[in-house]
Amino acid sequence: MGGMDLVWSTYKESLDEVEEQILKGLDSKIDLVNDIATYILNSGGKRIRPLFLMISSELTGNTVNKEHLLLGAGLIEYIHTATLLHDDVLDNADVRRGNATARVKWGNQPSILVGDYLYTLAVCQAVTIENHEVNHLLSSTCRSMTEGETLQFYHNKDFNLGEETYFKIVEYKTASLISASCRLGAIIAKGSEETKGALSSYGRHIGIAFQVADDTLDYTADGRRLGKSLGEDLKGGKITLPLIHLLQHCKEEERKEVERLIGEPGLQEEDLKQVTALMRNYGSINYAIKKAQDFVDLAKEDLSCFKDSSHRQSLITMADYVVERDH
Ligand code: IPE
Ligand code: IPE
Ligand code: MG
Ligand code: MG
Repeated sequence: MGGMDLVWSTYKESLDEVEEQILKGLDSKIDLVNDIATYILNSGGKRIRPLFLMISSELTGNTVNKEHLLLGAGLIEYIHTATLLHDDVLDNADVRRGNATARVKWGNQPSILVGDYLYTLAVCQAVTIENHEVNHLLSSTCRSMTEGETLQFYHNKDFNLGEETYFKIVEYKTASLISASCRLGAIIAKGSEETKGALSSYGRHIGIAFQVADDTLDYTADGRRLGKSLGEDLKGGKITLPLIHLLQHCKEEERKEVERLIGEPGLQEEDLKQVTALMRNYGSINYAIKKAQDFVDLAKEDLSCFKDSSHRQSLITMADYVVERDH
């Protein structure tokens, strides 16, 4: 066994405890809240953010308050889950993790409400750690994520969206939480300022690579493996890196045709294939993968202040994984 499989199995015991913590922490007296939250939390998320948190805490080399660590890992996953509930409403998504989305099963309104519930549950739990740095980190992260999704919404079907704004959206909506996961691990383990800074930066670079990879997978993945429908970004008018590259490099008449398909709710499979083929022709897919790879390299450089260890090696493996993953 090697690569990411080895990483998952190395931290399996802790991840199992996180799983317990996640379910135990859901204790609303309102059944509908628990039903919806349990449905999505049990639907097979990778738990990559809790994993980043735990490895980051280990990397400090300090002994940690286990209770706080599990609480932190669980609440990061609550925040992530809250954003997914909201995101699937914003994106009109029908499938997530191979299942019907909560909005399909229960409707948009309860999805938004339970998203709000999970955000606030995370806050309620965070304050029990009684550490102002933790409170500040998590509240500013939630603020950034909301700003990111709002900025993205604002630029829906904006055919002239440039890379600068695209990366700003990615940084706010995705990298902020992965960065916070790493930093929170270091804060709970009482890491030094240098350690916290390096891990935040690592998480930020990983987060950007992770989203660029996600945006590429939306065109190239095997839908069943991905657990989400393909072409959702194109159909939803979301201008992501491969599409930005294509629009900037294709011929005028091709651009007109692609623009006609962006945000087209009746987008057919052939249309998607046509756009993906153009992306392959113009090197847009490879361009996006290369960009993601550049951020992975930056993330690895962030780890240069740590001496070699199995935990450091795990973070390096995870850095490679974010661009190699197929779901
Ligand atoms: C999906 O995140 C949302 C993005 C930031 C792209 P994950 O790919 O971590 O989703 P799950 O939790 O494993 O389903
Ligand atoms: C990531 O954006 C969602 C958040 C960071 C909230 P996407 O819209 O690309 O995520 P998926 O593809 O639906 O998982
Ligand atoms: Mg989405
Ligand atoms: Mg996506």
